[in-house]
Amino acid sequence: MNVTTNPLARAQEICEADMVRVNACIHENLQSDIMMIPAIGHYIVNSGGKRFRPLLCLLAARLFGYRGDRHIPLAVVVEFIHTASLLHDDVVDSSDQRRGSPSANGVWGNQASVLVGDYLFSRAFQMMVADGDMAMLKLMSDVTNALAEGEVLQLSRTFHLEMTEAECLEVIERKTAVLFKAAAEVGTCAAGQDERTVADMAEYGMCLGVAFQLMDDALDYSAEAETAGKPVGHDLEEGKITLPLIHAMRGDAELRSRVEAIAERGGYADGDERDWVRRRVAAQRGAEHAMRRACDYARRARALLPASGEAEIRDLLAELADFSARRPY
Ligand code: FPP
Ligand code: MG
Repeated sequence: MNVTTNPLARAQEICEADMVRVNACIHENLQSDIMMIPAIGHYIVNSGGKRFRPLLCLLAARLFGYRGDRHIPLAVVVEFIHTASLLHDDVVDSSDQRRGSPSANGVWGNQASVLVGDYLFSRAFQMMVADGDMAMLKLMSDVTNALAEGEVLQLSRTFHLEMTEAECLEVIERKTAVLFKAAAEVGTCAAGQDERTVADMAEYGMCLGVAFQLMDDALDYSAEAETAGKPVGHDLEEGKITLPLIHAMRGDAELRSRVEAIAERGGYADGDERDWVRRRVAAQRGAEHAMRRACDYARRARALLPASGEAEIRDLLAELADFSARRPY
């Protein structure tokens, strides 16, 4: 995928001026005399993330011709909550790699990562208070609460081999998609759109977010670690029963009993066994199944975009939904 055809790169180009302001606002809000805060904050914020969520917020505002300034700190709020959640997530998942580099917990340890995550999270709420809109504060606090609930729900379903597709999608909506929803929703709200349009854009973000996480789950079984920029094949080890595995276990009883044995060992599997599981999931086309579902969600997202608004941005938002369901990383 080259720069001109990659819609995320196009979004970055179109929003370049706004993104300069977003990055300045990030920098400003990472200032602290406790040196570990800007050190870890900058490390993770500048670690090559796609800035997908803040871009969605900026594009939603732009779609409706917004000309004010509020979308900048709101995009940063979304990025800070996302970054805080990654700092916590890598501790919870004992993951030592993120975006092709050592994760923050790999460099500074778990305590520092959790605490700087708390800092970013609380800073996001200070910024919401400074924005001064109770409706926006309610929206973001509900979303953050859902995000935390989603992670606890996922934890409570560790090695839940009976997990249905619907249960799996519920986790995805709550742990990942809600923040994409929030990004599209706050941008649309800031642009002063009516309730119906805000609801459609929120649902657009939600569907795009589901497609995004389904691809993440597919890539865990199908990608190579260098492409993914993080360890692959770890979901099972962590007890996450995701769609590729659910689908594959439905058609392969031997795979299911092997997964049961791995679950009884608390997720431990040696290299040979991990490769075996990967091959059996591939034989059942588990990743492709998750990708097909991701494409269904991308289609739903596209259909929710309003007929009104700036055509170039609407087309780009439609392509971003497709990109979420087809991304190679
Ligand atoms: C990545 O999932 C993790 C998330 C999408 C959400 C993590 C959220 C929390 C830990 C809750 C934090 C709450 C607050 C309030 C800060 P993944 O582990 O499947 O993906 P990965 O492979 O990228 O790690
Ligand atoms: Mg993780």
